[in-house]
Amino acid sequence: MNKRQTRAFAAIATAVSVVVFLGMTVDSHRQFPKLTHTENITPAVTRGKDVWHANNCINCHTIFGEGAYYAPDLTKIAQQRGAPYLTAFLKDPSKFYDEQRHRRLMPNPDLTDEDIAALIAFFDWVGKVDNQGWPPRPILVTGAAIPGMDMSMAQQGAAGSAKAAERLPPGARPVSGNEDPIALGEALFRSATPVCSACHSVAPGVNLAGPSLAGVSQRAEQVMASADYKGSADSVEAYIRESIRTPSAYLFPGDMFSAGGTSFMPNTYAESLTDEQIEHLVAYLSTLK
Ligand code: HEC
Ligand code: HEC
Repeated sequence: MNKRQTRAFAAIATAVSVVVFLGMTVDSHRQFPKLTHTENITPAVTRGKDVWHANNCINCHTIFGEGAYYAPDLTKIAQQRGAPYLTAFLKDPSKFYDEQRHRRLMPNPDLTDEDIAALIAFFDWVGKVDNQGWPPRPILVTGAAIPGMDMSMAQQGAAGSAKAAERLPPGARPVSGNEDPIALGEALFRSATPVCSACHSVAPGVNLAGPSLAGVSQRAEQVMASADYKGSADSVEAYIRESIRTPSAYLFPGDMFSAGGTSFMPNTYAESLTDEQIEHLVAYLSTLK
C-alpha cells in the first residue's frame, strides 16, 4: 500500500467503526426501556437508588458487576434473600455474621425504616432487569450455588445424598419425571427460586442466612417433642413439609433467623413449588445426617 492508500484505508476503517458504534448505541438505547422495565420504576425505587448512592454502598458492593469487589454482588439479592431478611440485615448487619469467621465487616449504615424499604424496592427492580447474563461470574452471596462448582457436595456425608450425587452432577436439572425423588429433591434444593442453598448449607454446623440442614430429621423429632412446638406436624416428613410451606409455623431459635414471629425464610414456596416438588425436597432433606 502506498501512502495514499494507507490514508484512505485508515479513513474508511474509522468511518465504518463510527457508524457501527453509533448504530449499536442507538440500538441499545432503543432496548433500554424494555430490558430495564422502566414502567416499574416507582418513587420508592428512585429513592432506594438515592439511598444506595448517598451511603456509598458501591464502595464495597457491585450491582451488574459495577462497583467494588470487597463485598458480594447485590444484583439479585432481593430474589435471593427476600424482604424480611433484608429488612433485618440492613437494620443491623453485625447480627448476621461475625468478624472472626467472615473476616469482613459491613458497617451499620444507620438507615431509617423508609430508607430500608426503598432500598429493597430498588434491589427488587434491579434484580428484574434483563441484564442479558451480565456479569458472567457474579460474586455470589455466601452459599449461593454456582452450577458445577458446588463445594457443599464434597462436604456432605449422608449416604442418601452421596447416592443422589452419583446420579446427578451438581447443578444438573433432571429432564424426566422418573428419577429418584432424593436426587430430584437435591437438584431442586440448588435450583428452586429463591435457591435454598443460598441460605442453607447441608454441612453440620455451617449456618448461612438460614440454619444448617444437616441432621434436620433428628432435630425435628426433638422439636416436635418439646413444649414450645406449636405447629401441627406429627412426623419428620410433615415437619419438613411444614417448614417449607409455612416457615413461621415453628421458628428455629436465634434472632438472625426471624424477627417479630416472622421467619426470614421466603414464604412463597407453597405457591411456587408443586406438591410433588415439595415431596422431593422432603425426601432429600430427610436423608441429611
Ligand atoms: C465497608 C464496606 C461495605 C459497605 C460500605 C456496605 N457493605 Fe454491604 N456488605 C459488606 C460485607 C463485607 C458484606 C458481607 C458480609 C458477609 O456475608 O460476610 C455485606 C453484605 C451485604 C448484603 C448481603 C447480606 C447477605 O447476608 O446476603 C447486603 C444486602 C448489603 N451488604 C447491603 C448494603 C447496602 C444497601 C449498603 C449501603 C447502604 C452496603 N451494603 C454498604 C460490606 C459493605
Ligand atoms: C432467604 C433465606 C432462605 C431461603 C432461600 C430458604 N430458607 Fe429455609 N430457612 C431460612 C431461615 C432463616 C430458617 C430458620 C427460621 C425458621 O425456622 O423458619 C429456615 C428454616 C428452614 C427449615 C427448618 C429447619 C429446622 O431445623 O427447623 C427447613 C426444613 C428449610 N428452611 C428448608 C428450606 C428449603 C427446602 C428451601 C428452598 C425451597 C429453603 N429452606 C429456602 C432461610 C431460608
